[in-house]
Amino acid sequence: MTAEMRLSERLGSIKLSSTAKAAAAAERLRRQGADVVDLGVGEPDFPTPDNAKRAAVEAIERNFTRYTAIGGIPELREAVCRRHATDFGSQYAPEECMISVGGKHVIFNAIQSLIDPGDEAVIPVPFWMTYRDVVEYAGGQPVYVQTRESDGFRVTAAMIEVALTPRTRLVIVNSPSNPTGAVVERTEFEAILDLAHARGIWVLSDESYARFLYDTPLYSAGSHDVAHENLIISGSVSKTYAMTGWRIGYGLGPEPLIRAMTRLQSHTTTSPTSVAQAAALEALSGPQDSVAGMLSEYRARREYVLSRLGAMPGIAIRPPQGAFYVYPNVSEVMKQKACVTASEFASRLLEQELLAVVPGDAFGTSEHIRISYAASRAQLERGMDRLEKFVRGAS
Ligand SMILES: Cc1ncc(COP(=O)(O)O)c(C=O)c1O
Repeated sequence: MTAEMRLSERLGSIKLSSTAKAAAAAERLRRQGADVVDLGVGEPDFPTPDNAKRAAVEAIERNFTRYTAIGGIPELREAVCRRHATDFGSQYAPEECMISVGGKHVIFNAIQSLIDPGDEAVIPVPFWMTYRDVVEYAGGQPVYVQTRESDGFRVTAAMIEVALTPRTRLVIVNSPSNPTGAVVERTEFEAILDLAHARGIWVLSDESYARFLYDTPLYSAGSHDVAHENLIISGSVSKTYAMTGWRIGYGLGPEPLIRAMTRLQSHTTTSPTSVAQAAALEALSGPQDSVAGMLSEYRARREYVLSRLGAMPGIAIRPPQGAFYVYPNVSEVMKQKACVTASEFASRLLEQELLAVVPGDAFGTSEHIRISYAASRAQLERGMDRLEKFVRGAS
């Protein structure tokens, strides 16, 4: 007799991430021998800086290969606080810092530690889909706040305020944003923090892309004293140092919350990987020129992609202010091609032109696609040629 496959109800709220789905579709075609250009993936194409790699090799050689402290080695927690203070002017102590298995894991730990069934979490749209699924997994209710495309998808305190109810527990802010690259202005961010503080609501600030800004100085909510006790920051070495596969992220927040998140982590991963922590320690405390180098390359690629998209009929684009994505509106082309959803648009683009992008449906909007320019210039050129051919084609 076959055992009945009954999964927990809780898991019903978890869908396979749409970026993973898009990557799987591209991978299927690639395995069949197709020459796919992949501008869907959200990870740097650069190698991890040599100094970080060397630190990992040395860690292996000195047998630094055992469990570590649950919330990460003290040296790394100190290095995170130091780096954050230098870059953003914050003042966190190592007890207010924990290391997890990627920024995603920090976000999971934070949301599971804060949200009870029935609690509301305010999420600006477009959003990175993990927020929604993890809030729902905790039994919480996402409350979506629409931003305006005409205003570059910028989040304001006024938008957040109208979404607050007595059940609001958390506001999630991701600046610069995946997928739009929109940046929350300093004064707006401070107004959001003040508002949340006044109402006793938590703010989760996802700083995964905070070092990649094109027009504005570096900023972290962590530099705003007022909201310290209501603020949890998630950051990561993944994008900043091209270390996606090492899986190291960090949380910065009040000690009681960090202790709770560490308790949760003690029953999941035990500790982050020892060797990866050694690499992250060097990345954060060693020379930072690789970050500046990547930023300057992203800036050039962004200009290139914007100029190509700007010349394509039926595509409307606003320059992103940070991260490494553009989020063009393709509604005109969708109409011409009778595509009902952005997913249909992206599937046809993949089938006809072998170009992979992520449809906006994955981020809560229905007329956009996300294009990542964390790809070599040669790949970007081929990708833009394919998109142009698709857009100019009759069907
Ligand atoms: C907005 C945002 N937050 C968090 C993450 C998590 O990254 P990681 O877990 O690799 O640190 C990502 C990764 O794509 C992201 O785009």
